[in-house]
Amino acid sequence: MMQTIFSGIQPSGTITLGNYIGAMKQFVELQNDYNCYFCIVDEHAITVPQDRLQLRKNIRSLAALYVAVGIDPAKSTLFIQSEVPAHTEAGWLLQCVAYIGELERMTQFKDKSAGKEAVSAGLLTYPPLMAADILLYGTDIVPVGEDQKQHLELTRDLAERFNKKYNDIFTIPEVRIPKVGARIMSLQDPMKKMSKSDPNQKAFITMLDDAKTIEKKIKSAVTDSEGIVRFDKENKPGVSNLLGIYSILGNKSIEEIEAMYEGKGYGEFKTDVAEVVVNALAPIQETYYELIDSTQLDDILDEGAERANQTASKMLRKMKNAMGLGRKK
Ligand code: TYM
Repeated sequence: MMQTIFSGIQPSGTITLGNYIGAMKQFVELQNDYNCYFCIVDEHAITVPQDRLQLRKNIRSLAALYVAVGIDPAKSTLFIQSEVPAHTEAGWLLQCVAYIGELERMTQFKDKSAGKEAVSAGLLTYPPLMAADILLYGTDIVPVGEDQKQHLELTRDLAERFNKKYNDIFTIPEVRIPKVGARIMSLQDPMKKMSKSDPNQKAFITMLDDAKTIEKKIKSAVTDSEGIVRFDKENKPGVSNLLGIYSILGNKSIEEIEAMYEGKGYGEFKTDVAEVVVNALAPIQETYYELIDSTQLDDILDEGAERANQTASKMLRKMKNAMGLGRKK
């Protein structure tokens, strides 16, 4: 039987080159060999404040980007989390399996709550909702960037705990992290990951940035004073990050690129990195603008929600039966 894949992306701003390289690009490659579910996790996005009009826009924009990068609705199920109510229901059930202590230990929670006065309870209970997303579909594999590894470990723990305590209903999912590009770094501080919520706009490239903006951002990317294009993550994180982006989007090995720029400075290298990025994004953006206001996009999302609902509601019923909720169904 075909194995199942599930992954999600938050519509909390226009997604970045990091999201694309670390996650989405993998999704496109995987959909031929797996039964895939790809989700726009809007209920995760509201764990931090969102402007409601902007959120609506971001949800649709993310859906269009999924299709524009190559997610094929004939092969994959693409849907919006809040249109499949089983997610929040199962999320609640898994909250009752999770311990506060383990949720407080999540680095994402610690990072996002640090120094904030009003932290939503949802930010703490975010991982059980993510576990619900994954477990509802009997997921075998979850392709994500490196920053989600800890959440995946917790998902596995919750699934095992539930199986032991109640009934053996959940598949224990495996995480799948790409070998290259699992952690694209900020262009302004290459010790930090590239993030769509970075207050410094120059730190990230979004999937919808135009050529000029991309060139400017890459030109001003922080590097070092050595002046040699070589990969050395520890000592040259900025240059290594650009090399990684070039390698993945330009389909060249790091060694090949290093050789191409031997004796050349960062100026020429950066110009070419920008060109590689612009060329990779141009066809995606073209499809995106065709789709964004189309009814075709609504049809895809309607069908996706229906398919996801069917699968998810069956597992939710199994969960409730296992826990002794309601009347037996
Ligand atoms: P999110 O929305 O922050 O990111 C979406 C995906 O992009 C990856 N990613 C990166 N990869 C490489 N370099 C980066 N700088 C970078 N930044 C982000 C993330 O690892 C992720 O794969 N909690 C998840 C969303 C989620 C989910 C799920 C994922 C909710 N439910 C179920 C998988 C399965 C998140 O916040 O991703």
